[in-house]
Amino acid sequence: MNRRNFLRSSTTALGGSALLTPAFSAQAAARPRLRVGLIGTGMRGQVLLKELLRRDDVDVVALCDIEPIMLGRALAMAEKFQRPKPQTFGESGDKLAYLQLLAKKDLDAVIIATPWELHAAMSIDAMNAKVAVGCEVVAGVSLQDHWDVLRTQQRTGTPYMLLENVCYRRDVMAVLQMVRAQMFGELVHLQGGYQHDLRAVKFNSGEPAKPYGGGVEFGDKGWSEARWRTQHAVERNGELYPSHGIGPCAMYANIHRGNRFTHINAFASKARGLHDYVANKSGKPEHPSAKVKFKLGDIITTTLACENGETILLQHDTSLPRPYSLGFRVQGTNGLWMDVNHSVHFEGISKPHQWEDFQAYQDKFEHPLWKKHAATAAEAGHGGMDWFVINAFIEALKADAPMPIDVYDAVAWSAITPLSEQSIAEGFKTLPFPDFTEGQWKTRKPIFAFGDSY
Ligand SMILES: NC(=O)c1ccc[n+]([C@@H]2O[C@H](COP(=O)([O-])OP(=O)(O)OC[C@H]3O[C@@H](n4cnc5c(N)ncnc54)[C@H](O)[C@@H]3O)[C@@H](O)[C@H]2O)c1
Repeated sequence: MNRRNFLRSSTTALGGSALLTPAFSAQAAARPRLRVGLIGTGMRGQVLLKELLRRDDVDVVALCDIEPIMLGRALAMAEKFQRPKPQTFGESGDKLAYLQLLAKKDLDAVIIATPWELHAAMSIDAMNAKVAVGCEVVAGVSLQDHWDVLRTQQRTGTPYMLLENVCYRRDVMAVLQMVRAQMFGELVHLQGGYQHDLRAVKFNSGEPAKPYGGGVEFGDKGWSEARWRTQHAVERNGELYPSHGIGPCAMYANIHRGNRFTHINAFASKARGLHDYVANKSGKPEHPSAKVKFKLGDIITTTLACENGETILLQHDTSLPRPYSLGFRVQGTNGLWMDVNHSVHFEGISKPHQWEDFQAYQDKFEHPLWKKHAATAAEAGHGGMDWFVINAFIEALKADAPMPIDVYDAVAWSAITPLSEQSIAEGFKTLPFPDFTEGQWKTRKPIFAFGDSY
């Protein structure tokens, strides 16, 4: 039995939702190395590639991208790490070249870091080919995409993980320990979001050397994310990037592990920021981009209600000038944490009505994973969390263990996008949230409960 069949049979043997049952074991020693491919070697793919190349338990055997410059950069990176040259696919521009990569014999896993609209189809093709999937955020675009990804995972048993790195952020994980230690009392309300001025990501000059800013091109004339992400802002009005905010909140609230989302609604502000940036701030009022009507409201505010009574508020804010913040807030009967001011307040501990600096709590409640791996993670992207997310995927696969951020998390977190779009389109209507676990949320174990080893 080759490694891929072994992976598959060991997960299907547990049933499609087998990822519910820890299955560690013995297998780890049997698969000390994995053969991994990467589809999408753009800006994000290259960050993830570096994390793969740094590891001595991974062989990057295949790379696929339809943009030769991006592919060339990834190849150069493999060479710099003195690794054998991976096989390449897609140089000719064939959008389906990734299927040849997936057909490669003995490929254990694939990382997908392509534009959002391709994630669902690529993940489904990989799972059907029995190649384990580590998918960049988001899982899909339409609600149907999310059901299709879920059903394919259940049918094939192929491991699938959403590579949501913010769940591994150092303060986010310390707060998880504080939630578990009941520091906040009973959780009542959570907040998060994606508040990141992306105007210079959504528009650039189209020059490969300058992926951020320097122009107001997008679509075919743009480069990197300006090539595809901006079009979503033209066509869609909703919470387009939910997982960085909802991932940690879902983890704190034990979503799919004793809790679930029950309802969702969303509001959209007017859309001004992108047009203002192109027409006024760029000094190019005559540019064709200035004539484009953007559908995406500048601030999208989404509310979720949970079975256990918590509310969760998400804000998507990517078109206006602002410093970066994911805007986390965790609030319970005994106090709260907010990341924007790095502060906490706990009744009976903090001075009444006053904030305390978070740092002492960060030190005291450091997550075991960070205690163990901080030095290794230090060189990785996004303050170390990119090392952790790749490490989790690889270690879970090697151990034949459940994925810490599994397909149920992936589809529910990501389905917030089409549901928020629907809510806005229907006059900010409150909608029931689909139960992707079909009742299994009642009995599943808390996230990161696998011995905290990854
Ligand atoms: N988790 C994070 O912190 C984080 C950060 C940045 C981006 N991302 C996510 O990573 C993904 C990629 O973003 P990016 O910034 O690298 O964008 P990018 O545009 O720089 O890279 C995407 C790459 O996919 C390639 N591609 C397009 N169609 C393809 C096809 N049919 N076959 C093969 N390759 C194809 C493009 O040529 C491009 O090189 C997105 O989902 C994005 O949201 C996540």
